[in-house]
Amino acid sequence: MAMNAYRLPRVIVPRPAVLSAIIMITVAAVGCSSSSDTTDPGTIAQNIDIEDGSDELTPDQEVPSNDTQLPGGSTDTLIPANLVLSPLPSPPLTPAPAEDSEPVRAERNTTTAEAYFAVRDPQIIPADILDDLTDADFEAGPLPAVISTPADVDPATNTPPFFVDLDNVEVFAGQQLSVLFDPEDADGGLPGMFPGNLPIGASFDDNRNGTKSLTWRPLEPDVGIHEFTVTAVDPAVPLYRSTHTIRIKVSLPSDLSTIVNLPPSVNNIRPHTVQVDDPVVAYIKVGDPNGTIPTLNILNPPPGATLTPHPHEEAITILHFVPDAPQIITLDLQAVDSVDPSLTGEQSVTIEVLPSSDFIRPGARLRQLASARDLLFGYAVLQSYYERPDGAIYTQIAGEEFNIVSTENSLKFDFLNPMPGKFRWAATDNLVQLAKAQRQTVHGHTLVWHRQLPPWVKRSALADRELIMREFIDRVLGRYAADVPLWDVVNESLEEDGTLRNSVWFEGMGASYIDIAFRQARESAPDATLIYNDYDIAFAGPKSDGMLALMQQLKDAGTPLDGVGFQLHLFADFDDVDEVIATFQRIADMDLDIYITELDISIADGQTEAQQADLYEQILSACLDQPRCKAFQAWGYTDMYSWRSNFNPLFLDDRYQVKPAYLSLQKRLGEN
Ligand code: G3I
Repeated sequence: MAMNAYRLPRVIVPRPAVLSAIIMITVAAVGCSSSSDTTDPGTIAQNIDIEDGSDELTPDQEVPSNDTQLPGGSTDTLIPANLVLSPLPSPPLTPAPAEDSEPVRAERNTTTAEAYFAVRDPQIIPADILDDLTDADFEAGPLPAVISTPADVDPATNTPPFFVDLDNVEVFAGQQLSVLFDPEDADGGLPGMFPGNLPIGASFDDNRNGTKSLTWRPLEPDVGIHEFTVTAVDPAVPLYRSTHTIRIKVSLPSDLSTIVNLPPSVNNIRPHTVQVDDPVVAYIKVGDPNGTIPTLNILNPPPGATLTPHPHEEAITILHFVPDAPQIITLDLQAVDSVDPSLTGEQSVTIEVLPSSDFIRPGARLRQLASARDLLFGYAVLQSYYERPDGAIYTQIAGEEFNIVSTENSLKFDFLNPMPGKFRWAATDNLVQLAKAQRQTVHGHTLVWHRQLPPWVKRSALADRELIMREFIDRVLGRYAADVPLWDVVNESLEEDGTLRNSVWFEGMGASYIDIAFRQARESAPDATLIYNDYDIAFAGPKSDGMLALMQQLKDAGTPLDGVGFQLHLFADFDDVDEVIATFQRIADMDLDIYITELDISIADGQTEAQQADLYEQILSACLDQPRCKAFQAWGYTDMYSWRSNFNPLFLDDRYQVKPAYLSLQKRLGEN
């Protein structure tokens, strides 16, 4: 069924004298059945949930309640045995790294790196050219709805929630846009709804009547075409969803004075704790909602401070100084509007300077204790740590405590290769240099994932997906395999119900993408250790069953697979460690190694640091007691930098002070 033929009248607002014009667009939505010509992916491959980028990671403990899980268990035998890869083409399908992608040496006083010469990418790839929607894209109308149909749902008897007659909208910069979304479901009930890729400054407000509104007052920097995605969730089956994307065209009014001039600002810089005599850098960014570049004033620069313009970003100034005594430094920063100097924005930054004695941890260093047990013990490193005020103490402690380091974000596709031929190698180049200086193994994360993909990959032709994936793998391993011996080749291929997740890669190659990825990795890096990595697979359930079935299929197919990475993003009251132990043993029985790859233990309301400490110790014991467990890696190590910092999930606090969990790890590592 084609999308509705007629379209809402495009809303063109006459240029108002007063910018209070509100564009009200009401989208009446009635349920309508999807059918094959909406290419319902549910008809392509059963149990497939289109990845809409809105699915948040489900930590190991927060599995949806049983009544939402689809029949889990093993995936179909979808992986042919002993596949032989075709040679990579020459010339390649996708442009190789351009010469101007090679990092250059960073300017003095712009990083805290002192153990090696830090490098930087030679250019910044502006975010706006990453998403190059054109007028033609806008004129083409909204994208077809994407229906995610779980296996136990029959569209003939349960129609998906739907927004019909959704259309693209136009608005002038400076005016307020309001778009009402009112999903309905022909089978009754009130669908849920959530947004994706909300424009900066926009809000998606609940009207408390079943509808929600996108509200946004775009300004000059927003001129262009934006995609906004909203997903309706079936009232009865939450994994049954319809995802819609509209395009919003923001145009400049002919009279720019109709756009209100808003005050500038200094980007927020969190309080930091640093060590006396360590270099401190602060990347101070100013901004103006109207797109101009304000002037930065530092009202009280520390003694000996230097200011260096950012090599690419006019809005960033790099402050460097070396505090020589314990103190609390408050930097008072001010941004002054480049058009109207009476418009300013202020921001203060607190830097706590502690003596080195305050960072001394009791007892033996964790890496010494772990190395004595032949265990890789490590953390995931913050991207561009050397451009943070506390980068020096952060790396000092990391070097003292860990013998392996994972790349948290710097090797992900969207960061590394944001545009064809453009690569951002510097962050990982610097990490590799740091790891060498600190005698640490580097764990590469991750070559193939359904998330954090650049627009050019997401929009690629299905037929190109295999070579895009393989050429990326080959280039990354070609650059790093000599220094990075361990790789998460494929990350998070499974849904909660144990079936394969749909993704850019699955769409292009079916389940074989997993086997193909490992085979390419083996070809590109014959000596590397190659593992499959996922979450929610360590404790009993359909996803763990699906993982075990998938690993067996891969082994049966002759896939060059060396081990399984268990992410283990837990909460402190997790109490299924016995199931973790049993799953580890089932993997060992498959002659595969076990890696704990992303452990963090969040403390939710009502949970305690003591529970956290005890669980860290239990998980470490589960690894130490399993001969095939090769690595115990946390996803960071200080609560200052964690993807879940609001749950304080790590074992040093945000001032680098020891928590009970540090002591419990140290005790367990020191025991026989
Ligand atoms: O680099 C951009 C920056 O330029 C921009 O200004 C900023 C604000 O938009 O975003 C920055 O990118 C962020 C990136 O982390 C680097 O900081 C992304 O928005 C943000 O989504 C991304 O979050 C990461 C997340 O994976 C998604 O990739 C987390 O830091 C990272 O800890 C988390 O790690 C994942 C593992 O890779 C896989 N297992 C689950 C784990 C937790 O989600």
